[in-house]
Amino acid sequence: MEVIICDTQEAVADRVANYIKYLINKKENATLGLATGSTPIKLYKKLIELYNNNEVTFKKTTTFNLDEYYNIDGDNIQSYRYFMNKYLFNKIDIDIDKSKAHFLICLEGENPNLIGDLYEKKIINAGGIDLQILGLGSNGHIGFNEPSSSFMSKTRIKTLTQKTIDDNSRLFNKNEYQPNMAMTMGISTILNAKYIILIATGENKSDAVNRLISGAISSKNPASILQNHKNVIVILDEDASSKVNNIDYYLNAAKENKKLQEQFGYFHELK
Ligand code: GLP
Repeated sequence: MEVIICDTQEAVADRVANYIKYLINKKENATLGLATGSTPIKLYKKLIELYNNNEVTFKKTTTFNLDEYYNIDGDNIQSYRYFMNKYLFNKIDIDIDKSKAHFLICLEGENPNLIGDLYEKKIINAGGIDLQILGLGSNGHIGFNEPSSSFMSKTRIKTLTQKTIDDNSRLFNKNEYQPNMAMTMGISTILNAKYIILIATGENKSDAVNRLISGAISSKNPASILQNHKNVIVILDEDASSKVNNIDYYLNAAKENKKLQEQFGYFHELK
């Protein structure tokens, strides 16, 4: 696991956007796994900037969103599809082929098991995910894989914990319906990505970040399983990194890695 600590949230967004740019310029038909939530908004803004400057094109990119609320239509402002359109896809509309942007919409009456299985097949048919972007829940969840989720899990429906419902309630109006279930890629689905970049910013993530990097690997803390993936980069701002043990080691390693990567490139496993 590589840990990179940036001065500000903007610097985090910059760094991740540049990884994505590098990836797409290396493999133009790359498949990206995308995340929602407050954390990646600045990243998407940065990608739009790069796109407008002709530094990157998404013409041949396929995307899979990580998760989606259950029983929320894709046009609903609370849906993650709406979020992606608002913060990224509509701004690069002339460029992205939306039929290559996949979402996990599952409405009442639809069988979540079949939708989950179909999503898995679509990911496989696309050749797997080259780079998965992740945020981090304050309870250690990735996607909507709540504590106790199986490390072997595939895309499926999950019931949300009260902690997640409370954390996300800030995004809902007082009388607005807030789902207590969601579709999510499974932990095993996420681990099948060739590369993973997890982003966390803000002091409120600092405990979860420390447990992710150096806590015991346990289904009680789903993100901890990322310690076992061979190509994970955790990119933090200073606030989110404030409780990382042995921080000097990571700062030093990041400097050394940067030199090597500038010389030999990134994403060496992608052809
Ligand atoms: C949400 C999403 C996650 C997201 C996380 C953090 O519930 N299911 O995919 O990464 O929680 O969200 P935020 O970036 O808003 O803190």
